[in-house]
Amino acid sequence: MMLQATVSDGIGDGFLRSVVLVAIASAVFLIARGRSSTKRLPPGPPGLPVIGNVFDIPKQYSWLTYQNLAAKYGDVLCVQALGHTLIIVSSVNAAIDLFEKRSTIYSDRPASVLAQMIGWMRNLAFMRYDDNWRRMRRLFWHHFQPSAVVQYRPLQQREARHFLRTLLDDQTDLCGRIKLSFCRVLLNATYGLPEKDITHRYVELLEQSDANISEAFIPGAFFVEFMPWLRHIPSWFPGAGWQQKVKQWQAQATGVFEEPYRAGLDAMKRGEASSSMLHELIEAARGKETEINEELIKGTTATVFLAGTDTVRSLAGPRHAEELQLAGCILPEGASAAGCILYLLQAP
Ligand SMILES: *[C@@H]1O[C@H](CO)[C@@H](O)[C@H](O)[C@H]1NC(C)=O
Ligand SMILES: *[C@@H]1O[C@H](CO)[C@@H](O)[C@H](O)[C@H]1NC(C)=O
Repeated sequence: MMLQATVSDGIGDGFLRSVVLVAIASAVFLIARGRSSTKRLPPGPPGLPVIGNVFDIPKQYSWLTYQNLAAKYGDVLCVQALGHTLIIVSSVNAAIDLFEKRSTIYSDRPASVLAQMIGWMRNLAFMRYDDNWRRMRRLFWHHFQPSAVVQYRPLQQREARHFLRTLLDDQTDLCGRIKLSFCRVLLNATYGLPEKDITHRYVELLEQSDANISEAFIPGAFFVEFMPWLRHIPSWFPGAGWQQKVKQWQAQATGVFEEPYRAGLDAMKRGEASSSMLHELIEAARGKETEINEELIKGTTATVFLAGTDTVRSLAGPRHAEELQLAGCILPEGASAAGCILYLLQAP
């Protein structure tokens, strides 16, 4: 039996929310294993013999379809397809009841075949609930628990000031520059990268991850999730064009896991890196923490980097610039921006 969360608001804060969103966006199914299908299941639309509800499972805008189904069948409903059972959870309360209050039984997730093929399994949001997950979660918590995040404030403040100062000279491509600014904070804290190494390439990596993960993990969009043997079909085979996409996604995922990591190691070698999560993890691995290996370090740091997809997405496009303008963050043409920025720079 599979459980899928389709709740999009009201869950926690910060990283946890990002992980939850990534998990949802990518349609990670949470599994409740070891239950026989003869047990009573939540209500759901009637399906056809054998293929079940294959045609009820939307390939696009899935939340709309599920919202409609939920109006008819309730907050927790069930669809079946090709021998798999998906439980759709579509209210915050139901999600909290199942995934928080009963987290000991509903914290696992099935290994997504696509995530395995692409190489996304090194991301905390996709991993099975096992020892590796617990190890990574522990390292993560150590650097990002509420009392630990205060250490990033000076960095955030410095970057905010720097951003405002550059705004004095140049107000073009506002969103692009906010995203870059955000990446500078993220990559300083995570990999210790010096400013000069932080280019739009990293913004691009996050934007691609967002687009690619969203597409790859639309529930039901790729039959290989239901029929794992399809992964062995070569891409030239009629109908197996999706394998080409998987190849591109693989290359993209490799970029996310390797590029900032390598850049961080290089910066350390040159003596230009500052203290960072990467640095601390490497030190811990050299010391007593024998459980920490390179894979774990790469996965943990990349998970932090990837948590940025959410922020970058919310800054996407010119609409956001308009909103900023409406909110009074950007002054209309002709107004005195300089005075305002100088004021902000001096504010504590
Ligand atoms: C990272 O940010 C801190 C705090 O602002 C700063 O002192 C440090 O120099 C930055 N690191 C690099 C490598 O630029
Ligand atoms: C991944 O996302 C980017 C958008 O940033 C897109 O250009 C690219 O085609 C996507 N790759 C695949 C295989 O869909």
